[in-house]
Amino acid sequence: MGPAGDGFDPECAIERDASRLPSVPALSSSPTAYPGCCLALSAPLLQRLCSLLPPTPSLTLSIGSGAGLLEALLLEHHALNLIGVDVHPTPNRYLPCTHHRTVPGTRFLEPLAANAPAWLFVYPRRVALVEEYLDAYGKGSVERVVWIGPRADWDDYKGCFGRGWHVRLESADELGGRAWELVAVARRMHA
Ligand SMILES: C[S@@+](CC[C@H](N)C(=O)[O-])C[C@H]1O[C@@H](n2cnc3c(N)ncnc32)[C@H](O)[C@@H]1O
Repeated sequence: MGPAGDGFDPECAIERDASRLPSVPALSSSPTAYPGCCLALSAPLLQRLCSLLPPTPSLTLSIGSGAGLLEALLLEHHALNLIGVDVHPTPNRYLPCTHHRTVPGTRFLEPLAANAPAWLFVYPRRVALVEEYLDAYGKGSVERVVWIGPRADWDDYKGCFGRGWHVRLESADELGGRAWELVAVARRMHA
């Protein structure tokens, strides 16, 4: 955050001028692979993801946002309050500084997670990243974790959500995505 606490990320030099950000593509109804996003995107899938995330002003933290294309689409078309986090030096291309944070290395966590009711992990690389966030901030504001990745990877991740979480799985192809991708929605259960 910048010195004025304004959400400005001083490490995010390229995107200071929002008008210089690349424009986001217009999505079609069928899943399409774009450079800068591991997940194939379509308009129906974007709509579904939006419905899984809380409306503004509740914060969604996208952890490992990469180039930020999916996040920029969610911001542009659905006006969510969403911040993407990635590792410095950031691969971010699409998110303005006001919606992006960096951590100094892959073992670091973004403390905003404590105040975010929703976390999004799209193609995270390490199971331990999800575990570490849940260990550090899983008893904070978070109510919902949306994990998206290859169906084949889910077996490695499902153990992150033990007692205290209810997980629903949605096949991405039923939502407008690719057949081998899975959307897992974990909701925190309250005693
Ligand atoms: C496989 S990429 C997926 C990127 C993007 N979500 C996508 O679907 O295209 C995983 C991303 O997680 C980021 N990452 C790794 N450790 C991280 C951490 N501790 N905090 C935030 N991002 C992290 C990597 O830099 C990388 O951009």
